[in-house]
Amino acid sequence: MRIGHRPERDKRITSHVCLVARAFGAEGIYISGAKDQKICSTVKKVCEIWGGSFWVEFVSNPLKLIKNWKNNGGVVVHLTMYGLPLREIIKNICQDGRDLLIIVGGEKVPKEYYLEADYNVAVGNQPHSEVSALAIFLDRINNGEWEHLTFSDAKLIIIPSERGKIVKEFKEEKKDF
Ligand SMILES: C[S@@+](CC[C@H](N)C(=O)[O-])C[C@H]1O[C@@H](n2cnc3c(N)ncnc32)[C@H](O)[C@@H]1O
Repeated sequence: MRIGHRPERDKRITSHVCLVARAFGAEGIYISGAKDQKICSTVKKVCEIWGGSFWVEFVSNPLKLIKNWKNNGGVVVHLTMYGLPLREIIKNICQDGRDLLIIVGGEKVPKEYYLEADYNVAVGNQPHSEVSALAIFLDRINNGEWEHLTFSDAKLIIIPSERGKIVKEFKEEKKDF
């Protein structure tokens, strides 16, 4: 969940939060703040080309969603530089197969989020970015498993190469009957 999205200022950074979430294994993103179609179309385009079913949903009452998430048995992590160190708390973040909601902020995060979160987690106690905090957290929580993630319906797949760009294209098969 990305809270406090401001369309005029955060377009690029919120898009990057979405792309990191998708690439590092999240199923989708809730965005609170003004509805911004540009974000939806950026993510949609990426999924059309690179595959997957990552979803984007704008929410008007994020705190209500968080409370419902917990009532339904889910776990809530809020990433903040004021939280407890990731390396210490990661072993306590017990999912047991429960759904995980990760909150990242933008401007000042209201105190209710600190109170509602099951865990307030710091990726180092220096200010950096919601993009880097999310990437590192997702990497650690899944033990790097995202590196094996593939998107079966991708139209383009990158073949890793030492230099240059090798891209394999999957065209939709046309069947003649
Ligand atoms: C521009 S920063 C604002 C920093 C904010 N004062 C805070 O509480 O972390 C925007 C978001 O990046 C994330 N962030 C920045 N630095 C972080 C850190 N060291 N650890 C975890 N999250 C961080 C938080 O989700 C924060 O809401």
